[in-house]
Amino acid sequence: MDGNGRWAEQRSLPRLAGHKAGVESVRETVRTCRELGIPVLTLYAFSRENWSRPHWEVKALMGLLTQYLRSEIKELKKNGIALKALGELEKLPPKVQDVLARVVRETAAGEELVLNLALSYSGRAEILQAVRRLVQDVQAGRVEPGLIDEPLFSSYLYTGGLPDPDLLVRTSGEFRLSDFLTYQLAYAEIYVTKTFWPDFRKKDLLAAIGEYQNRERRFGLTGEQLREKKVAPTG
Ligand code: FPP
Repeated sequence: MDGNGRWAEQRSLPRLAGHKAGVESVRETVRTCRELGIPVLTLYAFSRENWSRPHWEVKALMGLLTQYLRSEIKELKKNGIALKALGELEKLPPKVQDVLARVVRETAAGEELVLNLALSYSGRAEILQAVRRLVQDVQAGRVEPGLIDEPLFSSYLYTGGLPDPDLLVRTSGEFRLSDFLTYQLAYAEIYVTKTFWPDFRKKDLLAAIGEYQNRERRFGLTGEQLREKKVAPTG
């Protein structure tokens, strides 16, 4: 969700105004994904590196997050949206951890959309914690090293049990992964828009999905092989 600061700067507003406006984009994006029947939406709300921002900004972002969770819980439940969080959550202020745990617990039955919030998140750190836990399970004799395959490894990631993303949307014209879902994005389609996050609305998400639908996802095959697969009788 990049570009909050620049959006505010363009309007001679404080950075916080950009983050506040960004919360409305979060609401609209969640609503649109729910309407479209998209099963999982993951938002990169706070990276591990974001802890190094000025203290006041970190505090303000934590405040906005808490406010969002408190104000949205009813709406999430009503719309069958299950909130989950991924990242080094133990580093979040205890107040944020508490409200997060409550919203996760109270929305767990939602079956329409999984809303994944990446908080204090780093893809590399996620891979390392997976390796550590896997090694412990190998040492304890619970996992046979020869049987470690990609599905097994994926189950040790924070996103265990969820499908890999099909589409990555990056706002504000940045062409970087920024350590977001580093393992899971291996085959994702990447869509970059110059739009700043606070301006990112339903029409922008639809444009991203429209472009995604026109991409040919080959997964290493040739285009011809794919077309044969598509027309092959399904049985
Ligand atoms: C990146 O823009 C944005 C963030 C680091 C924070 C995103 C947080 C929110 C939208 C609000 C709280 C979250 C939720 C889920 C309610 P930037 O500050 O790096 O912008 P810049 O690159 O233009 O400086």
